[in-house]
Amino acid sequence: MHPIQAVRWSPDCRAVRIIDQTALPERFVERDLRTLDDVCTAIASLAVRGAPAIGIAGAMGLVVSLDSFDDQSADALRARTAVHAHRIIATRPTAANLAWAVNAVAAQAMLPAASSGAVLAAMRAKAAALLEDDGAMCRRIGELGVSLLADGARVMTHCNAGALATTGMGTALAPVYVATERGLHVSVLACETRPLLQGGRLTSWELSRAGVPVRVITDGSAAHAMREGRVDLVIVGADRIAANGDTANKIGTYALAIAARHHGIPFYVAAPSSTFDPALATGDAIPIEQRGRDEVARVAGRVIVPNEVPVDNPAFDVTPAALISAIVSDRAIHTPPYRFGES
Ligand code: MRU
Repeated sequence: MHPIQAVRWSPDCRAVRIIDQTALPERFVERDLRTLDDVCTAIASLAVRGAPAIGIAGAMGLVVSLDSFDDQSADALRARTAVHAHRIIATRPTAANLAWAVNAVAAQAMLPAASSGAVLAAMRAKAAALLEDDGAMCRRIGELGVSLLADGARVMTHCNAGALATTGMGTALAPVYVATERGLHVSVLACETRPLLQGGRLTSWELSRAGVPVRVITDGSAAHAMREGRVDLVIVGADRIAANGDTANKIGTYALAIAARHHGIPFYVAAPSSTFDPALATGDAIPIEQRGRDEVARVAGRVIVPNEVPVDNPAFDVTPAALISAIVSDRAIHTPPYRFGES
């Protein structure tokens, strides 16, 4: 089967080609992002989504958005780079990966180079390296994390932290894919993930495409499934991990971690190095993206909340480190107490 490539270069390398995740599972559509507006709109609308994927799409998008400025002086291109980078980073505040990857590419523009062509070439090379590294980090997470899965393991996950959310085999789902490659029988219970249904639409799509047994449940039935003894472990991805291990991930993750602790079920986080933010001492400082009312107040075009009633729509929550049994990165399986960033 053709592997999922959520983010890649178009054949002429003048665009970022993404799978439009707003169309799944009904339609598989790829879209080419060429301009700054294309890139910002795709990230903000979740056409490309998941912390690692938006980081790489943002980094590559910065490069292609600057392509038409290659006739300017190197200094003019540098100034333009700062403007574009700022706009891309502002699209989504919670995932550490977005600013990390975009800044890494933008930093290339600040190195000495005589021409705008040379500046752009350095930025393109950096974006290509990040794309490559992201896939490799996913595989390493899978190879480390597979040790957490026994044959027959029943894994609960939330949102989508699979191939669609990265440029490789995913983070939370990477151990599941590696286990399956090795002939272990592992199944997944996917929480549907209100309001945008990344679990129902995306996790189920990519796992069933890969032949991994998956079943979707409503978010509200997760604790019930644990109580019924249908969950051996929980693995989720992450958008930002503070120095003490506090972890931001899709809204609803915190409730799962509490329910898992109550039922004595191990709760794991899986994330690449690009998701760690050791500059933040605790999760209290993680910015939480607030999204629009209509994502909650409308379903399939129908108003489901009276217009006069206010709605809150935080896209992420922070799970305290004390509820996390271990954090699987591309470097190690980290166990409490977590102290990231200390040498
Ligand atoms: O709003 P989304 O769909 O971008 O949120 C994604 C998540 O919360 C994922 O769990 C997280 O980014 C990890 S992806 C490997």
